[in-house]
Amino acid sequence: EAPLTAIQEEILALKKERNALILAHNYQIDAIQRVADYVGDSLGLAYKAEEADTDCIVFCGVHFMAETAKIVNPNKPVLLPEMDAGCSLSDSCPAEKLAAYKEANPNVYVVAYINCSAGVKALSDVICTSGNAMKIVEKVPADRDILFVPDQNLGQWVSKQTGREMQLWPGSCYAHVLFTQQAIERLKLKFPDALVVAHPECVETVRDNADEVCSTEKMIGFCRDCDAEQIIVVTETGMIHRLQREIPEKTFIAGPTDTCACNDCRFMKMNTIEKLRDCLRDMSPQIEMPEDIRLKAYAPIKRMLEWSK
Ligand code: 13P
Ligand code: SF4
Repeated sequence: EAPLTAIQEEILALKKERNALILAHNYQIDAIQRVADYVGDSLGLAYKAEEADTDCIVFCGVHFMAETAKIVNPNKPVLLPEMDAGCSLSDSCPAEKLAAYKEANPNVYVVAYINCSAGVKALSDVICTSGNAMKIVEKVPADRDILFVPDQNLGQWVSKQTGREMQLWPGSCYAHVLFTQQAIERLKLKFPDALVVAHPECVETVRDNADEVCSTEKMIGFCRDCDAEQIIVVTETGMIHRLQREIPEKTFIAGPTDTCACNDCRFMKMNTIEKLRDCLRDMSPQIEMPEDIRLKAYAPIKRMLEWSK
């Protein structure tokens, strides 16, 4: 591996000085992944944030992830290198709209995918991630009608896997719905022995034709254990960095869209190595949230962390 750059060294020195924990999602750029204490999926990152005993947490990911870290570990600063790093999926379910739906359907049991705002979490009964969604949905009392928010693709996949009917909020991830089965089939002509692993936020035809559908963390285990030497990875492109670092003997090919050979999430990519350095140096920007919302949002996250152990 290439030696660390001057700015990466500077980040490691600042991390020590601040006694910070650097958490990074699998979709972050390689330069950020390499200075992080832990790189993982939303579920792994939520557990790491909860356990953190450093003086502060730097979250290299998008806003809802850093917000979740603050909800589970409120007594220390949680820094997000770029405060505008949002998520189209989270934006597709505004808290006011969910509140109105609940008013009209008061008995509904709300299962919320972690890709949502603290305001939406505060209105939910339990949270799930792509890594534990089936396990969580199976634990919801059988006599309750479930509303699954905000991702209709993950919801549809979980519903099919568990046989549990659910109402689906009409939200989706702008990046994952760009993958098409047609583009994947064209790529498979070039790599006929490759297996296909896809994220559940992809559309149904892509999921149905994949060899495995799972969270980003589970992709690591699947790619390591499967017999294939070449794997087409149908999720955000940053995933490839971690796979190549941890499984250097295999070849990973980014999942294609109809117009592009790879697919970056524009929000994940708003964090840069310079912004990471600056936030550690300035101790800003930090996640803030009203305590009443935090407490309400914590209850369904706590339920998830307990149910998914
Ligand atoms: P994972 O929890 O599987 O890493 O997914 C997070 C995400 O934002 C997918 O787009
Ligand atoms: Fe949100 Fe999609 Fe980006 Fe994940 S990849 S952070 S779901 S916009």
